[in-house]
Amino acid sequence: MSNLPDTVRLDGDCLEIIDQTLLPGQVKLLRLRTKEEIYYAIRLLKVRGAPAIGVAAAIGVYLAVVEFENKKFDDFYDRFVLAKLYLNSARPTAVNLSWALDRMEASLLKNRELATPQIINALREEALAIWSEDIEVCRRIGEYGLKLLEKGSGILTHCNAGRLCAVRYGTATAPLYLGQERGYNFHVYADETRPLLQGARLTAFELAAAGVDVTLICDNMAATVMKQGRVQAVLTGCDRVAANGDTANKIGTLGLAVLAKRYKIPFYICAPSSTIDLNSATGADIKIEERDAEEITEMWYRERMAPDKISVYNPAFDVTDAELISGFITEHGVISAPYGNGLRGLM
Ligand code: MRU
Repeated sequence: MSNLPDTVRLDGDCLEIIDQTLLPGQVKLLRLRTKEEIYYAIRLLKVRGAPAIGVAAAIGVYLAVVEFENKKFDDFYDRFVLAKLYLNSARPTAVNLSWALDRMEASLLKNRELATPQIINALREEALAIWSEDIEVCRRIGEYGLKLLEKGSGILTHCNAGRLCAVRYGTATAPLYLGQERGYNFHVYADETRPLLQGARLTAFELAAAGVDVTLICDNMAATVMKQGRVQAVLTGCDRVAANGDTANKIGTLGLAVLAKRYKIPFYICAPSSTIDLNSATGADIKIEERDAEEITEMWYRERMAPDKISVYNPAFDVTDAELISGFITEHGVISAPYGNGLRGLM
């Protein structure tokens, strides 16, 4: 592993994050205090990736109420709910955001008979538990994932499901980091991941910083490296897994799954149980975030490269059909098809 700081953590009365919009050029830590600062950090992808935004929101909702220790329960709870709804509206697709905030609310309600300062203390403990569990969950995903991979394999990954998407190990990168410690000699292909380039800016950066053998490719080169026999497995993360196994992840994941099937390459989703949403029956129930056109037409270019006023469609995620997925690597083991039973059993 590289010696990058944790992606997200509680430090005193601040949420400390690595500002991911500045990577790979600059590793800068931001210290955020207000719910507005934390909302915009999530919305603007300064902190991003499903597990990391869940942890950030849990810490954020604690910080949003920490100063209300003199309030009576009803007033305190009202303020908590307002902050929770606000933070939950920062991004729609990753279920970890609402999962973490719901868990914080459950802790508050469980302790409702206590005095407000003690409730605040319990909220702090819960946020820290969500933080530390993320580290353990990712390690376990790494152990289960590594069992599926042959030494010397080429592994293709998309977007950033690395340490920068979680607190420390990442999900899809956890088997890669463990494999590196154990001499597996993986060769990783990182898709650049248009339009926000999380693969190029973040995955290639963090793997290279850790000394992993990584090659950056454009998204439209994935078919070629698969056809050339360079890829033995595809590993990606996920933002929300529906009850039937349909899975939302960064736009472009669906295309990779179709290609992997064509070239008979196993396609695994690394899925902490916090990304499984049994309330979404199928992928059709998952709300897909649409982002600004400028991410496609202007960002990263010295001058705008698309015609003025051109119509743009910019969905940030797609849904991979369950039938294209070879298995879910979770912290409790690997789930194989049929997914309905396996996912329900795990939850
Ligand atoms: O828009 P982002 O950068 O937050 O999207 C992130 C992804 O799609 C990741 O692959 C996903 O959150 C899984 S991270 C374990």
